[in-house]
Amino acid sequence: MKIAIVGFGNVGRAVAEVMLERRELFQKVDFEPKVVAVFERDGSWIDENGLKLQELLSKGTSSPSWVEGAAMAEERLADLDCDLIVEMTVTNIEDGEPGLTHIVEALNSGKDVVTSNKGPLVLAFPELMEIAEKKNRMLLYEATVGGAIPVFHVAREALLVNRIISITGILNGTSNYILTKMTDEKVSFNAALREAQEKGYAEADPTYDIEGIDAASKLVILANGILKTSKSIKDVRIEGITRITPEMTELAMEDGYLVKHIGYVDRNRIEVIPRLIPRSSPLAVGGTLNVISLKTDVAQDITLIGRGAGPRETSSAILGDILHINKIRKEN
Ligand code: HSE
Repeated sequence: MKIAIVGFGNVGRAVAEVMLERRELFQKVDFEPKVVAVFERDGSWIDENGLKLQELLSKGTSSPSWVEGAAMAEERLADLDCDLIVEMTVTNIEDGEPGLTHIVEALNSGKDVVTSNKGPLVLAFPELMEIAEKKNRMLLYEATVGGAIPVFHVAREALLVNRIISITGILNGTSNYILTKMTDEKVSFNAALREAQEKGYAEADPTYDIEGIDAASKLVILANGILKTSKSIKDVRIEGITRITPEMTELAMEDGYLVKHIGYVDRNRIEVIPRLIPRSSPLAVGGTLNVISLKTDVAQDITLIGRGAGPRETSSAILGDILHINKIRKEN
């Protein structure tokens, strides 16, 4: 499978690292990846015979195949001879760019797409799925919600026989970290936010985390991907966590509850709001963890807990999608 990587930041590099580590497994599952291009903001590495990932990781832009200022993704994707694009540029939920253009061009030129980029899916989910269907291509996006948590795989494969009624979860690690620190250690809101930023979890603009925009974006992708709705972020009732104080979390604790920032969607309601959760609930996960619970009609409740961010964790979801597409394409 010829692959082009668009965006070689922390997640892109982790994908390359894990690809190198798992070569033996790939042979066993009949996956022969050949990375023919890696596009960055300011240039690219291109080799139709396959780039040496090890060299790219160690030498970066000093590698001989690096060409600065040339062959940008949006100019090259359509003509590039490859089977699959991995779109990992930074999320932009204002206009989805540049990821939106990359995904549209890739699908329109007959390539499958795997992405970790929330922006294009939040803004244009139905349109992108329509293009993918028309072109008979796959667009998978496991890494966009809950980092490593394989919620779309589970819903699509393991729970196929079920009707999924609602989805509840904690979808933002930064705000969960802040609430946990306030509850367990009486740390002030601002100090807890600073710690989350130092850990590298927060968005570049942390208001996206604490005001619930990031969680709402993920909820929209869950709703559209799993409940097959056509929601947009404007449909979500959003209330952030900025008004929560250590006193509130303490009072809740005394009654056996935790204050958690909970996303909820069913076919009538979609919201991200602070809620009181019993301390014994499966949703009561702490620190930067994410949790996603699916209410279904046959299996009842299925709850998945895991790391919602982190380059290596996120690469697990991306490679899971790539391997899934490889399997489907090999079967056909
Ligand atoms: N800022 C996000 C979070 C990163 O804290 O969960 C993962 O999307």
